[in-house]
Amino acid sequence: MKNQVKINGDRLMRSIFELGRFGGLEGGGVSRLALTEADRQARDYVANRMREMDMSVWVDGIGNIIGTYAGNEDLPPVMMGSHIDTVAAGGLYDGNYGVLSGLEVVAALKDQDCRLRRPVAVGVFTNEEGVRFQPDMLGSLVFAGGCSLEEALATTDQEGLSVAEALRGIGYHGPEPVTGFPVDRYIELHIEQGPILDLEKCPIGVVEGVQGISWTEFTLTGQANHAGTTPMNMRHDAGYVAAKIMARAYELALGLGSGQHATVGRISEFGPGMVNVIPDKVVFTVDLRNYREEVLQEAEKELFSFAEALAAEHGVGCERKSLARFQPVVFAEEITGLIRAEAEAMGLGYRVLPSGAGHDAQMLARVCPSGMIFVPNKDGISHNIKEHAEPEDLITGAELLRRVVMSLADRP
Ligand code: GLV
Ligand code: MN
Ligand code: MN
Repeated sequence: MKNQVKINGDRLMRSIFELGRFGGLEGGGVSRLALTEADRQARDYVANRMREMDMSVWVDGIGNIIGTYAGNEDLPPVMMGSHIDTVAAGGLYDGNYGVLSGLEVVAALKDQDCRLRRPVAVGVFTNEEGVRFQPDMLGSLVFAGGCSLEEALATTDQEGLSVAEALRGIGYHGPEPVTGFPVDRYIELHIEQGPILDLEKCPIGVVEGVQGISWTEFTLTGQANHAGTTPMNMRHDAGYVAAKIMARAYELALGLGSGQHATVGRISEFGPGMVNVIPDKVVFTVDLRNYREEVLQEAEKELFSFAEALAAEHGVGCERKSLARFQPVVFAEEITGLIRAEAEAMGLGYRVLPSGAGHDAQMLARVCPSGMIFVPNKDGISHNIKEHAEPEDLITGAELLRRVVMSLADRP
């Protein structure tokens, strides 16, 4: 019976397109920011599918949804999962694929009436993207005990609405406790969101770890004044200082090498925003990432001291707020080894690689041995409505996930 269990590729693909309708954009892609109406609809879809498969559904105080398919013994489950929030103009696969593949693994078990020694669970974690609320991976961070529930619930979006209010607004402020849910092992399947597997025509990535993330919001305060009459040496130009800090972030990443990344992704204020007025307020973010904590720290140090010195030189105020800070994570060899072994047993080529993107698995790694499987996505494009992955690769990844999970759930 167990060796009859197989992923149904058509059902998996159908579910990806069904879920993609919630927050679906006209030209393709999805806009489903965390805790919006589209997120509620997507959550309902997933929770309903869980119930249809006789999974017990648990919703905790930060809105994480955990569906559990009982095992033969009352043991902590082997969990799969990811997130179903997206960036404001994202694709159908980032996060969604991991959740829906988890459901597909359960559906495949159910097709054969198959129960394993341990329960098998699917986790849907709140606000992974971190676009609406910072930090990213908020639900899994609280789940893993890395941030108090109170602090997470009090976090506000750009409009000042809190996570608690947004959760209540969509009816997902669940009754269950957020920490202490026992998890035996955690496996997350995800598109790579980078170019390596696609370039190398390699079907599987065995993820060895995730790079560290540092998000900072800068607020620069200068003085508004006349653009035509104020001599260049008498200005307190917050716009100029901001532009130099932004450029410096990019240049220092190039200069440091060692896999340093730097991105200025959001300018939320550029005031007063008039053609003939010197800017007096600029608010923007810098995202720094590295696989090596010491290089990431060096990048932060260099950027922050550059910003302070330049702002002081121009008589501009410079405030910094940390929006997210996570150290690099190395996944358990027990899990990466098992993924490699199962890929080999399936005759699949694989490549061991680190993850450039943040993932819920990096938080779950705090509470249990965890790991990730990547599949290729076209040209490595993600966080973009053009994000695309081939059904064949998606189905292959799900089949590998099934094997890994069955092996873990049935181990002695
Ligand atoms: C999450 O998707 C991140 O890596 O920013
Ligand atoms: Mn993701
Ligand atoms: Mn993402």
